[in-house]
Amino acid sequence: MAACRAEEARVIALRAEIERHNRAYYVLDQPTIPDAEYDKLFLELQRLEADHRELVTPDSPTQRVGGTPLPGFAQVHHGVPMLSLNNAFAEEEAAAFDRRCREGLGVTEVDYAVEPKYDGLAITLIYEQGLFVQGATRGDGTTGEDVTQNLRTVRNIPLRLLGTGIPDRLEVRGEVLILRRDFERLNAQQRALSAKEFVNPRNAAAGSLRQLDARITAQRPLRFFAYGVAQVSHEMPGTQAELMNRLLAWGIPVARERDRVAGLAGLLGYYARMGKARDNLPYDIDGVVFKVNSLADQERLGFVSRAPRFAIAHKFPAQEATTTVLAIEVQVGRTGALTPVARLEPVFVGGVTVTNATLHNEDEVRRKDVRVGDTVIVRRAGDVIPEVVAVVPERRPIFAQEFIMPKTCPVCSSQVEKPEDEVILRCTGGLYCPAQRKRALLHFASRRALDIEGLGEKLVDQLVDSELVATPADLYRLDLATLAALPRMAEKSAANLLEAIEHSKQTSLPRFIYALGIRNVGEATAKDLARHFASLDALLAAEEERLMAVPEVGPVVAASLCRFFAEPHNLAVIAQLRERGVHWLEGVASLPGTLAGKTFVLTGTLPTLTREAAKAAIEAQGGRVAGSVSQKTDYVVAGSDAGSKLEKAQQLGVAIIDQDQLLEFLKK
Ligand code: IVH
Repeated sequence: MAACRAEEARVIALRAEIERHNRAYYVLDQPTIPDAEYDKLFLELQRLEADHRELVTPDSPTQRVGGTPLPGFAQVHHGVPMLSLNNAFAEEEAAAFDRRCREGLGVTEVDYAVEPKYDGLAITLIYEQGLFVQGATRGDGTTGEDVTQNLRTVRNIPLRLLGTGIPDRLEVRGEVLILRRDFERLNAQQRALSAKEFVNPRNAAAGSLRQLDARITAQRPLRFFAYGVAQVSHEMPGTQAELMNRLLAWGIPVARERDRVAGLAGLLGYYARMGKARDNLPYDIDGVVFKVNSLADQERLGFVSRAPRFAIAHKFPAQEATTTVLAIEVQVGRTGALTPVARLEPVFVGGVTVTNATLHNEDEVRRKDVRVGDTVIVRRAGDVIPEVVAVVPERRPIFAQEFIMPKTCPVCSSQVEKPEDEVILRCTGGLYCPAQRKRALLHFASRRALDIEGLGEKLVDQLVDSELVATPADLYRLDLATLAALPRMAEKSAANLLEAIEHSKQTSLPRFIYALGIRNVGEATAKDLARHFASLDALLAAEEERLMAVPEVGPVVAASLCRFFAEPHNLAVIAQLRERGVHWLEGVASLPGTLAGKTFVLTGTLPTLTREAAKAAIEAQGGRVAGSVSQKTDYVVAGSDAGSKLEKAQQLGVAIIDQDQLLEFLKK
């Protein structure tokens, strides 16, 4: 049926509105309407176009779904070759680059445009009369592959340029990548479908971009960021920084983190800033790129072989490296959890030498199929513990045997069990198991528990292995002569330790409960219990039902508590601790503050308050700070770069507040 005027007008209006929201969401990162409303507009447009095929245009937002699969990719010759950048790894190399630029231009200080170096895939996009007509991969730099169909599905690539001064022809260069949060979601989806997970966002982006069936690409959360212009028919601004602003005005996404700096000090400052920000950026970067800002100066400096003289990539230490697995050992944690750990040929990654990487649990080892002798990719990002990302299958030696989890505890030979709904195996030896005993002691002495300074891993190993200490209560019977007789123990350190132990005797009820190391009883729950029962004996006497009456205590926590207190051995240790002088002030169930009964969850970075400070302030007013968002959460305090907790809060309809609103609450 031919469309009437009103329908045609509606289609045009819908497209404009959808593109406006698209730009707000994908390019400017400032969503304007809820997803559901956006979906409604999109559906209306799809319906109108389905009824009136003649109204469909190639730049309609509905055309981002992918068409018929291709037999293969056509080749594209790049009019302007896609070159590479020289790399600087050390400060001296950055200094040498700055010196060459200064000397080449005959100036004392150079004005630079600086950008992140995206860890994605280089692509080129061609616009004619403002319409996206072709996109290609880098290939060998001279000839790439035509991936236009696939790039049409990338939500933040404008199908039509916006605004004024649109050139007849424009060729934009940039990178396609997947944001970290989208990558997590994509892998969760792959797991749910029992499909193979992607190793990292870069591989996922590469795999998604090179699909012959663009309908598959359309389902992958690809993003594009521009960093340059290869060819343009119009007069353009004279600097890289202005060029990027111009692209942004036409609706082409560019890095928010781009900046302008002066001289070498400016370059190094930016490198340091981005190095710090790296782990909190929405995408992976492997360094920063320095570019002489003036395009005329860029031309004067020119190229040497296949790289520009006017730009350089200053790389960060790699967060991934390959190495070999020397052994797979199984560690036993405080609560008996068996964790397989890969012992590695030492490798420098993420700025440190890594010799071990966690393999998390049996399922994970099986899924990744890590074997002794394998070459593996190891990742260490920021302060996160190193992990094995994947095996390099081509480099597996023929003798490599599948890893099998032990059937008994590798430390105490007790049976292991696999609790329902858990992926981990646990040793059933409890405190009979030296490994669990050691962990329990370390937990007892940790800063947030009884805070015994100087009681570290090595000392606990010695004390347990020499059978001087089996339970926390034994710590309070140690004397100077015994301690000083330990190998490698000086009298002074022994005296310091005894003093720390003595000092720890005066504690608080929440700390004491937390120190016991009861499963599922973290710091927040320990505080809840202390506040509710006000004395240890009242807590010990409470039955499951009374425990569940405590806000935030559910059946799992209540069951853990009952199991722990039903164990005569645990009660004996508690009694000994008290006999030997561990004490706290009882009976002062804290006065209900203004936030009494309210549960908060903190997420992201707050403008001025550290997490610790915010937590302490909330608790001082009787509020509670929990680690995860649930129906029981009253407020989520969100700072910048808030992640999944914020999403969860939105899903559950939990009130979301910022630091200012929190401070208002605290004033009341
Ligand atoms: S400018 C003449 N800027 O790095 C080459 N490249 O080695 C000009 N890359 O695969 C490239 N982020 O795709 C430039 N901000 C950025 C970049 C960037 C990533 C990639 C580029 C190419 C490689 C060059």
